[in-house]
Parts: sequence; structure tokens; C-alpha cells
Amino acid sequence: MARYTEESRQRVREATDMADLVGQYTELRRSGAGRITGRCPFHEERTPSLSVDVDRQLFHCFGCEAGGDLFDFVAQREGLDFPAALEFLARRAGIELEREDDSPEAAARRRSRTRQLEALQRAAVFYARHLTRPASPQARDAVEYLRGRGLLEPVCARFQIGYAPPGHETLRAASHRAGFSDEELQGAGLLRLARGGQTPIDRFSDRLMFPVGDQQGRIVGFGARKTVGGRGPKYVNSPASALYRKSQLLYGSHHARAHARRAGAVVAEGNTDVLALRQAGLAPVVAAMGTALTERQLKELARLTKRLWLCFDGDAAGEAATLRGMELAVAQGFSIHVAALPPGQDPADLVASEGADALRQLTDASRSLARFHVERELQRADLSSAEGKDALIDAVRGVFAWLPSSVLREDLIATIARRLEVDARLVAAWLTTETTAADGTDSPLRSRPSPAVDHAPGAARELLLGCLSDPSTASDVLDDRQIAALPTDLHRRAARHIREHRADPTAALPADDHELVAFIAALLAAAPSPAPARLGHESI
Ligand code: UTP
Ligand code: MN
Repeated sequence: MARYTEESRQRVREATDMADLVGQYTELRRSGAGRITGRCPFHEERTPSLSVDVDRQLFHCFGCEAGGDLFDFVAQREGLDFPAALEFLARRAGIELEREDDSPEAAARRRSRTRQLEALQRAAVFYARHLTRPASPQARDAVEYLRGRGLLEPVCARFQIGYAPPGHETLRAASHRAGFSDEELQGAGLLRLARGGQTPIDRFSDRLMFPVGDQQGRIVGFGARKTVGGRGPKYVNSPASALYRKSQLLYGSHHARAHARRAGAVVAEGNTDVLALRQAGLAPVVAAMGTALTERQLKELARLTKRLWLCFDGDAAGEAATLRGMELAVAQGFSIHVAALPPGQDPADLVASEGADALRQLTDASRSLARFHVERELQRADLSSAEGKDALIDAVRGVFAWLPSSVLREDLIATIARRLEVDARLVAAWLTTETTAADGTDSPLRSRPSPAVDHAPGAARELLLGCLSDPSTASDVLDDRQIAALPTDLHRRAARHIREHRADPTAALPADDHELVAFIAALLAAAPSPAPARLGHESI
């Protein structure tokens, strides 16, 4: 995707009042010249630790270390990636963004993409209408199916659930009438070629339609489930395209966005589960649409929250692929709880048979990923023989490779020791010895240490702070050798930036190095500055 011009970024910057922007999310008070503070909108707190530098348009929280510029603020707060955050602020300021590469080809591609999105949006409306006004016996079956699963009208409306009528010409004809060409509809994945022929026909026929949104909530494709009497595979999904990249999309993420930051997110298995959980009152729910969470999906989720509750059927939650995916998530700093359903049941079943409260109780009683894994292995193990006990140790070794030293770790070791009827110290020793067993040694955590947060080791941080408060010293203090000796790459990038922009370290902050922007914002927020003017607790 082409980048937006530096000039349009600049115009958005100039048009955005930082106090106004941040003030939309939290109440702010003035705390000094050009500085305001408030309760941080990125974590729960009682006393304000968010500091906003209005003129430089930077923010930093001394509590949770969130920080960056105005674009980072929106990206983090709204869970958007950088281009989307820029678009968000541009819309807010009524500014039209310009792209760097405005070659005729790129412009044409963009236009066709816009048309495809329109076609998809119209298709969703078309399908939804066929569900609310069922016109055939098959359509009434679809309505009946949803009712049978306990999924009621409000939740279906919220997720724009629809029904693709039988036959292969209905959507195509309606879209033609609205001015769309076959080429556009095919590009949007709404048509396919008839078997053995060249004629494009509706891809979806006699199916329940689940529109899939991207992070901004634009419909980019559909998951289409067969109903009771339907034929063919259980799901027919939109084909992969520039718009529809299944491995990057999370079903429900757009709806989850608003709530996830505070509450964390529930990860379910399938589309219908997302609806059932939402209907039961759990707002932030997403599903990975039939695969273990991919790295891209985790990245997407990380923008919303790092607290996840897996709500899977007990068998699926214990599957090796699921667990490995989750270990990957733990390595990336996610905290994960498992709310396993009875084997063979899904959330909709549980809500239908025992009501929404049963589901909420289940999530309340969820266990940490480590405990879930260990208890599950204990349940499955044959502890009547030494061999069985050894096999158990092997099966849980992977967990102890990533579980940090903690009360939980000791507690789990003690539990295992009790069940194995051996001394806990022995268990601890066995768990940390390498064996030839494949599991544990190929745990993603071995090769991928969790990315440590770089708290600036004191001296390096002092050095950078000194240069910020007395810029005249920066070029002497920050010579190449000094910079090379700094402890992390982030320190080195910051030092080079401060040296080059001593007059105004906030000038020319790189658009793509958010880590650096956040780090500089943190340093500036901590840099000694004139004592704050006493303005009392005036609210602004
Ligand atoms: P499920 O089979 O559990 O489907 O697959 P479901 O939507 O939850 O429906 P029920 O109520 O259990 O029958 C989970 C998810 O995997 C994807 C879909 O996104 C589905 O929601 N999937 C499943 C496919 O993409 N293709 C398939 O053939 C099956
Ligand atoms: Mn399911």
C-alpha cells in the first residue's frame, strides 16, 4: 500500500489539538507550561500519571509506560495500525490525505479496491435483507437454524448476519442493477465461474452469511455456513485476495475493539461462538476462523489487549496446535486464561441448555494457561507406573520452559509432586533437565526469548536525559564511540536522533519507528524542566 505524503501527515498534525484529542478519552488538568496530566486511558488508575506535552504533541504514562506521538495515541487507543490512525485523525480534522505514489496504476488499483469494498458492503445488506424477510422455504430453514441455536435477532443484526438465497443469479443480478460489473464482483470474491464454464455465477447460495470485517470494520469478505438442509462443505469462505487475508483477520475484532482494552478479549473457535458469547453479555469476543491463532492475528490482537481468555471446547483447547499457538502468545507478553467447555460442547450449546449465566461462570472460573495444561496432562496420565510418571513429566516440560519463577510455578510443581508421590525438589529438577524428548526442546520459547522491555539501564538513560536538558553538550557527549557503547539498539537510535536534532528533538521523529518515538516521549516527560507553574487544579 502506498504511503501517505509527509506533507499530509504534517497537515493532520497541525490541525490536531493534542489536548483536545486526549481530552476525548480522559479528563485533563494543566500541570505546567504546555503540559497537562490526567488519568491514563491505557490502564486503570486512580491518580493521574499520564503526561501530555501539548506543543510537541507527545504523551507518556509514568504508570504503564504507554507513550508516543498523536498518531501512536490513536493507534494504541483505537487499536489501529499506523496508516489507519492517520486516516482516523484526517477524518476527524476533515483533511484529505495524499499518497506518495500517485501513479495512474496505483490510483486505478485503489479505485477498484474501493469499488470492491462497496460491492461487499452492498452484498452484506442484500444478504441481511434476505434473512429478515425470508422469501423461500430454504430461507425460513436458515432462520429456524439460528433460532434453534439460540441466536436471537439483536445479536444477528449487530453482526449483520445474512442469508444468501438459493440459485446462482440473485446477488449478481442485484449488483448489476446497482452498477457493478462482473469484474468488480469477481474481484470482491462474490462470484465464481460456473463449473466447466466461463459464466460468472454467485459464489454463495443457500447459506448463512457472516460478514468478516477488517480492523476498521469494513467488510472484506464472508464466511458462509450451510444450514440444516444445505449441501456441500460446512463453510464456504471468500477466496483469498488483497482484501481478504484469512490469516490476518479475526472474526468479530471490529466489534471487540471498543471493549477489549479495558476488559481483555475472549477468543472463541468459530463464528457462531462469537455470536453466542456476545449474546451472553461478553462483549469483546473474536474467533480465529478455524485455525490456531497466527502470528499476524496475535499482532492484531496485541493492539487491542494482551489479556486473552480462550473459550474452547475442552478437546480443542488441549490440542497441541492450540497450546503451541498460545505459548507463542505468552512469549509475546500475552496473559492467557483458559475457560474450557465440556468436550464436544460449544458456547452456543451451553447458553442454549443452561443459559448465559453458565457461560459467565465458566469464564469467571477460568484457569491460567499453565494450570490448564498441567491439570489436563495429569488427568490424562497413567500414574500407576514409573513409565507413566516419566511420560507426564515430559508432557508438561514445555510449560515449565516458559512459566517464569512464580508462586504459580511452585504451586504446580507441588501439585505434580503430590500426584506422583515424589519429592517436589526432584520434580523441579526433572522439569528443568533437558531430555531427548522432542517437546520442550522445540518449544517456540526456547528459540524466541520474550522481547524484554527495555528499561533504560540507569546510566545510559541519565546520559540521554542530560543531553536533552542541555542540548549544547549533545554533540560532544554523544560521539560515535559513546553511542556504540550504549546498552541497547533503542538507546543507540535515540542517541543518534538526539544528536542530530539537538535544537528540537521532537523535530523529524521517524514515522515508522514507534518504539523510538515512545522512548523519546518518555525521556522528555522525565527530563528536568522548570518547576510547573501553579495553576491550581484547573480543568481544561
Ligand atoms: P466450526 O466447525 O466449529 O464452525 O469451525 P462454527 O461456525 O463454530 O459452527 P458450529 O456451530 O460449531 O457448527 C470453527 C470455525 O472454523 C472455520 C469457520 O470460521 C468456523 O466458524 N471453518 C470451519 C472454516 O472456515 N471452514 C470449515 O469447513 C469449517
Ligand atoms: Mn463450532
